[in-house]
Amino acid sequence: MMKHRIFLCVLAGLGLSAFTLPAPDPAAAPVFFRQAAAGGTETICGFKGGNPTHGAEIYAKTCVSCHGADGKGAIPGTPDFTKKGGVLSHPHTALEDHIKNGFQSPGSPMPMPARGGNTALSDRDIRDVHAYLHKAFGCG
Ligand code: HEC
Repeated sequence: MMKHRIFLCVLAGLGLSAFTLPAPDPAAAPVFFRQAAAGGTETICGFKGGNPTHGAEIYAKTCVSCHGADGKGAIPGTPDFTKKGGVLSHPHTALEDHIKNGFQSPGSPMPMPARGGNTALSDRDIRDVHAYLHKAFGCG
C-alpha cells in the first residue's frame, strides 16, 4: 500500500516535471533572441555596459508610471530627467546606487523606491535601464 502510494507520487512528480521542466527552454529562447536582436551594450554619456533597448522595456514596465514616458516626471516629487544639469548629470555610481537602493532627498514629498519597487529587477536590469535613461533623456 505504502509502496503503491510512493510510486504514484513519483509518477505524479515525473508528470509534473515533464510539464514544467522543458518549459523554460522554449520560453527563454525568444527572450534571448530578442535581447540579441536588440543589440548589445553601448557606452552612453560615458556609462559603459548597459543595453538601452532592454532598458526601455524595463522603463516601460517599472518606471514610467512615476517618471513618465517623456522623463519629465508624472507625479509630484519626481525629477525632470531632461533638465540640463539635472539628476542625470550625477555620477554614474550615485545614480546606480539610487536606483538600486532608493533614496529620498531632504524636503522631497516622496522617496524613490528601491529598484522602482520591483524587487525582481536584477543588477543587470538596473544597468540596462540606467543606459536607457541616458539614451532617451540625455546626459543631464
Ligand atoms: C513610485 C514612484 C517611482 C517609481 C516607480 C520609480 N521612481 Fe525613480 N524617483 C521617484 C521619486 C519620487 C524620485 C525623487 C526622490 C527624491 O528626490 O527624494 C525619483 C528619483 C529617481 C532618479 C534620480 C536619482 C538621483 O540621483 O537624483 C532616478 C535616476 C530614478 N528615479 C530612476 C528610476 C528608475 C530607473 C525607475 C524604474 C526602475 C524608477 N526610478 C522608478 C519615484 C519613482
